[in-house]
Amino acid sequence: MTALLQVSGIEVAYGGVVAVRGLSLTAEPGAVVALLGSNGAGKSSTLRAISGLVQPRAGSIKFDGQELIGMRPEAIARLGIAHVPEGRGVFPGLTVLDNLRMAQFGAGTARQGDARAATNDVFGYFPILGEKARQAAGTLSGGQQQQLVIARALMQKPRLLILDEPSLGLAPAVVKEVLDVVAGLKLSGMAVILVDQFIREALRIADRAAVMEQGRIVLEGSIEDLSASSIAAAYLGREGSPVAAPAVPAGRGTERLTATVPGLQVRQLERAAAARGVAVDDLVGAALQRYLKARTSPAGRRK
Ligand SMILES: Nc1ncnc2c1ncn2[C@@H]1O[C@H](COP(=O)(O)OP(=O)(O)O)[C@@H](O)[C@H]1O
Ligand SMILES: [Mg+2]
Repeated sequence: MTALLQVSGIEVAYGGVVAVRGLSLTAEPGAVVALLGSNGAGKSSTLRAISGLVQPRAGSIKFDGQELIGMRPEAIARLGIAHVPEGRGVFPGLTVLDNLRMAQFGAGTARQGDARAATNDVFGYFPILGEKARQAAGTLSGGQQQQLVIARALMQKPRLLILDEPSLGLAPAVVKEVLDVVAGLKLSGMAVILVDQFIREALRIADRAAVMEQGRIVLEGSIEDLSASSIAAAYLGREGSPVAAPAVPAGRGTERLTATVPGLQVRQLERAAAARGVAVDDLVGAALQRYLKARTSPAGRRK
């Protein structure tokens, strides 16, 4: 089966700064790809290239077989790709409903019947937005506003949803809430590319992860093989005396990742991060890279 999105060997540069170097990536319906990496790795530039906001100077980006390079962002959006850029906000003075309607006018597809059907669909995914449809968006909580931002993108009925750091600025409990919705979208058959600094949460809903470093994908792995015990071991691998890894039932399941990494390990991770003066996510990112590297070493390689 060919992928819905097939990015091959793209290169993105801003003047003399090369941000993305020969990057290849695919996205499939009903699956989340987590694109990870530290600040400046080239994640946003990759996403911008896909949605036409920057033009790659080399490579190819095919969506459903059609070449996107050279197309305008509006035309790409009409094909069914919705991109929620980093830091996108809501119109605080407008109601939730008007925020959604504006998004649809923006996409240039609004007809009244369509708009009603689309908002109803969106409220199916985000019941809280339906309840608060007549409230000003500025009165919503941070997590609800982020749901509205994603909901606006859904008004286009995308086949591919691209989310650039949807958890930015949200409290951890709220991050879970927002990403749960993304998990629901994937179950509906949407293809999702997710960039998020909350790596643990991103991996919970992801099917594959790709780690970027200096414009390249340095490691890529399928989440179905990332069992809770191995992830926990990777997180804690160099911290001296990791607690015993939890038993992991056989078979696949991304839910299990969070279910079986016990609080004790999470607290140990937090202490380790504090001791090094880094954020937990930095530590987890480094550990994930070590883990994936171990998996892709000759002994662990599987094709
Ligand atoms: N508009 C721009 N002009 C010049 N350089 C840019 C621009 N946007 C990003 N860059 C540079 O490209 C590199 C990758 O940035 P970006 O794609 O934003 O990474 P990430 O999203 O992973 O943090 C960085 O070195 C960044 O400074
Ligand atoms: Mg970015």
